Amino acid sequence: MSLKDKNDKKIIRINVNGIDYDVLIRHRDTLLEVLREKLLLTGTKDACGQGECGACTVLVEGRPVLACLMLAIEAHNKSITTIEGLAKDRGLTPIQESFIEHGAIQCGFCSPGMILTATALLRENPRPSRRQIQKAIEGNICRCTGYNKIIEAIEAVRDKNMQGDSGDDRHDR
Ligand code: FES
Ligand code: FES
Repeated sequence: MSLKDKNDKKIIRINVNGIDYDVLIRHRDTLLEVLREKLLLTGTKDACGQGECGACTVLVEGRPVLACLMLAIEAHNKSITTIEGLAKDRGLTPIQESFIEHGAIQCGFCSPGMILTATALLRENPRPSRRQIQKAIEGNICRCTGYNKIIEAIEAVRDKNMQGDSGDDRHDR
């Protein structure tokens, strides 16, 4: 479907968490506004609105993006994952479970963005070093945990990935 003009507005098509939406937007609308105000996906948080805190992080085509800095029109024909799209029928993802187990969620405000950032990191690099984890989450501000619990939660999933890898190795021998 092509972009359609309606005066100063346009209809875009976006796929959010596996569902296609045709949404009437204004040129200046951000992806964050569309997700929260039009699709009512309020798991994506609106904090600084200036690209400073990472609370609005979503995945666009699998990569972390600050939804407050992305115009909705740029998301036309793109696939978006919000925190609401992670847990499936089988329950929470390993990262979500690990955040809970390690006390990496306190007030929870940073958690959707932090978890999506960690999800993208571990998909791209299932065995990140502590330094690579720190680097990946450096744009996501957490005012509660002091970051250690978050890093430990991500490391625990990484360690399980590595155990799975060595199990596969043993199986191959
Ligand atoms: S709300 Fe987008 S970076 Fe803070
Ligand atoms: S858990 Fe409160 S800001 Fe991170």
